This record gives sequence, structure tokens and C-alpha cells, in this order.
Amino acid sequence: MEVVPLETSDDVARLAADVIETVVRTRTSPVLGLATGSTPLPTYRELVRRHVAGAGPSYDAVRCFNLDEYIGLPPGHPESYRATIARELTDALGIAPERVHGPDPTPEGLPTAGERYEAALAAAGGVDVQVLGIGSDGHLAFNEPGSSLGSLTRLKTLTEETRRDNARFFGSIDEVPRHVLTQGLGTILRARHLLLLATGAGKAAALAAAVEGPLTASCPASVLQLHPHVTVLCDGPAAAGLA
Ligand code: F6R
Repeated sequence: MEVVPLETSDDVARLAADVIETVVRTRTSPVLGLATGSTPLPTYRELVRRHVAGAGPSYDAVRCFNLDEYIGLPPGHPESYRATIARELTDALGIAPERVHGPDPTPEGLPTAGERYEAALAAAGGVDVQVLGIGSDGHLAFNEPGSSLGSLTRLKTLTEETRRDNARFFGSIDEVPRHVLTQGLGTILRARHLLLLATGAGKAAALAAAVEGPLTASCPASVLQLHPHVTVLCDGPAAAGLA
């Protein structure tokens, strides 16, 4: 695992954008794994800025797979992860909606959503670079503490802590869905390169536990220690707990 402490979240965004662009430039059919949440937004903005300035690579051959999705939001809800990724990144990069995949949260799709998503990931040849954030409780995607380290895409229940963390995107905590579909920790480990972004003091304890603590389901992000190619980009406040 390479841990790269940087000064600011803008430094994290620039370096993360470099990593993603390199994959897009060098792979013939690049597959990007995308996280939502606040942490990757500066990276997505940087990619869009470069693209608009004509300085980015061509995204024509790119396919994207979202990490997770809420269950129970009306179709097209602005806080659904499909809508968020389209709004914050893929529309602006000119990536067609049919090239952006997410787990299917519709009531009729739910029973088979996990296995169909795993099959779609495999059919695409796997993820070249997976962007990840980390939860303040050490969650990775929506694999909350206690999640199986080998888990695949499935339905999960959010903890109150995560619902509270995500209430800022909704009117109130009551509007935050209780259930999600999420790639499992085992799914995430199949990506060829994992790019974990961590910014802000609120992530310091979780990041230290993930990187330097024991491998344990109590800190799902510690599963990164099992992967042969992980890059952690963090700003000064997030790095504060590292030895
Ligand atoms: C998002 C996701 C979550 C977030 C995590 C951190 O797709 O899977 O694990 O990465 O909750 O969220 P932020 O970046 O908002 O602090």
C-alpha cells in the first residue's frame, strides 16, 4: 500500500485526477469505479475542468461502475447515486448514460440486483481503478463495521452514524434511506487498483485504523491491506493519526 500524505484537498484532487487520466489514456477499454460522497467531488471537478479546457483524455471508450446506490428513492431523485455521478462527473465528460452502471434498486430488480451487478462487472473485464472514500466509522462503500471481508454486491442496512453523516445531502435524517445496494468488500478487492481518498480531520481516526490497525471486519477499510495495489491520497488533517 502506498500512502501519500499531501497538504491540501486540492493536492489530493490533482493527484487523483492524474491517476484516473493515466488509466483512461493507457487502457483500450478503461473501466472506472466511482464513489459518491463529498470526498471525490474536488477530483471529479478537476477532471471536468481539464476536459472542458481540452487538456484531458478522450472518454469515448470509458465505462463506469458506481460503488453503491440507495434503495427507496423515487427514480431520478437528485441524491440517488446514479443521478449524482451523472451530474458531478460523467455527463460533463461526455460519457453516455448507458456506459455508466449502478446496482439496480428497483423493487422488481432487487432480488437479483447483486448477482446481476457482479456479472456486469465481470463482463466488463473488471475495474481498472476504483475511487474510494472512507466513512468516519471505517466503512468502505456501504460495508459497515461487521461486514464480511469477502462479501459481494448485496443489500445492506445503514447504521445511524452513516445516516447522520449523509443527512447533509437531504432535508433531514428522516429522508435518508435506511437500505442500500453496495459492492461488497470482496467485490472492491477485485479491482486492479484501489485509490482511497481521505480529506479532513474527521477521517483521521478511521484512516489510521484502516492503514495501520489490525485487519478486522470492525474496520471494513482495513481490508485494503489485503490488496496488492492500493494508493491512499490524504490531506494533512486526514493524515494526522498516521504514525
Ligand atoms: C460513497 C460511499 C461511501 C463514502 C463514505 C465517505 O459511494 O460508498 O463509502 O465514500 O461514506 O463519504 P464522504 O466522502 O462524503 O465523507
